[in-house]
Amino acid sequence: MNKQVNLLTLADGQKMPQEGFGMYKITDQATITSAMKYAYDAGYRLFDTAQLYKNEAEVGTALKELALPREELFITTKVAEPNQGFKQTIASVKDSLHKLQLDDVNLLLIHWPIERAFFDTWAALEELKKEGLTRSIGVSNYQMIHLQYLATQAHEMPVVNQIERHPRLSQQPLLDYDKAHNIVTQAWSPLGRGTILNNPLLEEIAAAHNKSTAQVVLRWHLQSGVAFIPKSVHEARIKQNIDIYDFSLSDQEMAKINSLHDFTRVGKEPALVYEYNLKY
Ligand code: A2P
Repeated sequence: MNKQVNLLTLADGQKMPQEGFGMYKITDQATITSAMKYAYDAGYRLFDTAQLYKNEAEVGTALKELALPREELFITTKVAEPNQGFKQTIASVKDSLHKLQLDDVNLLLIHWPIERAFFDTWAALEELKKEGLTRSIGVSNYQMIHLQYLATQAHEMPVVNQIERHPRLSQQPLLDYDKAHNIVTQAWSPLGRGTILNNPLLEEIAAAHNKSTAQVVLRWHLQSGVAFIPKSVHEARIKQNIDIYDFSLSDQEMAKINSLHDFTRVGKEPALVYEYNLKY
């Protein structure tokens, strides 16, 4: 199996693996430790957690137990809505680092844009980067309008925007905007939480390459130039999801997958989270 994962260069110079391992909804220690071991052994180096996932302490314990070399790893966490605000963000990130048993993370994201603390939270991220508690700063679930608004007061702009993206929500305008502004787009729920894997068109393309539909979808992300973080707790799937570097999709196949876009979200609508100040 070819384990090669491309490294993308962020606008601040840090290198980030294009493919990573998502940790959403994995909470018990044994499952986290085994999933991270399978993932590391398979070649993943980016591990994506969040305050919201309530598993930072378990991720920290797994990193220690597995003795994974810190310099090889790219660790992301995210500030949850109730912790937003200047002082609260700084305190909560120090708490996250304590739980993760790390001196810094590679990437710190604001999990969702909210109206209540829109600029203050970003100012806190800029401060945390200055203090060396994170190497890069970015956002998640920001739409074009949120990035444009942020630019009116930010001293530096996000280097990553992590958004919901899968074949039913291809996000082409936002991808183009991010690219034009030197922001790397990273797809969460790249498999649409598994909901698209029985799609007949994807099955047809998968059969032609002797791959699974999950591998076809991840290859589509790869060839779209975005970063992506599939999640699984099963060893065979974790391995399968990184075994996507020995085939390629034709332009015609890419276009067919793009045609599945129908604005379907598996997660929340960012504009509403912004207005209500919470994940409704
Ligand atoms: P599981 O953890 O039981 O393997 P996403 O990354 O889009 O959020 O999708 C994650 C969902 O897709 C999880 O429910 C995961 O289940 C499932 N999944 C992940 N990889 C595969 C795969 N290769 N084949 C089928 N289902 C998968």
